[in-house]
Amino acid sequence: MTHDHHDFDAPSDEDSSFASAALAGLAGSPKTLPCQFFYDARGSELFELITDVPEYYPTRTEASILSACAGEIAAETPTGSVLVEFGSGSSRKTEILLTALDALKAYVPIDVSGSALDEARERLSTRFPNLIVHPIVGDFRAALVLPDDLASRPRLGFFPGSTIGNFAPREAADLLRSMAASLALGGRLIIGVDLRKDRARLLPAYNDAAGVTAAFNLNLLVRANRELGADFDLAGFEHEAIFNAEKSRIEMHLISTRKQTVSLLGRHFDFRPGESIHTENSHKYSVSDFGDLARSAGWTPRRVWTDAQSLFSVHELVVAG
Ligand code: SAH
Ligand code: AVI
Repeated sequence: MTHDHHDFDAPSDEDSSFASAALAGLAGSPKTLPCQFFYDARGSELFELITDVPEYYPTRTEASILSACAGEIAAETPTGSVLVEFGSGSSRKTEILLTALDALKAYVPIDVSGSALDEARERLSTRFPNLIVHPIVGDFRAALVLPDDLASRPRLGFFPGSTIGNFAPREAADLLRSMAASLALGGRLIIGVDLRKDRARLLPAYNDAAGVTAAFNLNLLVRANRELGADFDLAGFEHEAIFNAEKSRIEMHLISTRKQTVSLLGRHFDFRPGESIHTENSHKYSVSDFGDLARSAGWTPRRVWTDAQSLFSVHELVVAG
């Protein structure tokens, strides 16, 4: 990496975390860009398109599991509870739970994507007119703060999509621990976890034939160009998804197709041909390994539901002790 002395506009508060993460990630070896920055308005749209490609089995599989178990979840949810969802995105799958949980007082979706939350709030307020919808734009790793009128109600957490798999096991345990603290009043979390399976099934899910996942990955560079004044040449990077068997995870990379230099916020970053920017990990668990992870983070696994092919799992965890 080399430095020069051009003047650049200071990043605004909104993008400063992307700025600092990008500067640190591109200065590292190997280079990285964290996956939470996929979700600008276009990235959230592209993720929704991924959920519809034939190869991406997680969303439709989880939706069918939820349809089957929503009644059992609802039966144990106290009247007047608050449903808190972490990384809610479009909240499409949430509608399955909201339909079953008819005695719910409020729904609190938390997401870094303001555009996704706006659309979800509008749609859900029309479909569920008696439900209070209180979106929180922000990082779900932060402690949960509810408005006074909701704060003392029982809480049910919902963390679908296997977004937990985007964290390394140690960070995932930290996140689960912080969710246990946030949900202590009620003490229950419904969490979707993608399961280990043959790589022949996994790899196409992260490299679909229509190229939607490739566009989703490359959109990170489009965002860096727009928000951080970077000059990534989109034609100079290719999407790659690999399975890392040792770590039981899909990895997404952006591979430099040639020797090139990219500038971003006044710094220059050199790329070798074939050099990667590692953009995402998506860990795959067995039901019992995920149970162990949950236990290590202060939760007791209570029930688990899977599909007939054991592609995906939905776990009910309760705060231990
Ligand atoms: N729950 C939805 C969306 C999954 S995509 C589903 O199951 O289909 C992951 C979502 O998590 C995106 O909407 C993204 O914006 C959000 N997200 C990722 N990291 C986040 C973070 N650290 N804090 C808050 N939201 C985050
Ligand atoms: C949100 N997250 C669980 C998705 C996943 O499968 O890891 C994001 C995604 N990345 C590529 N396709 C979908």
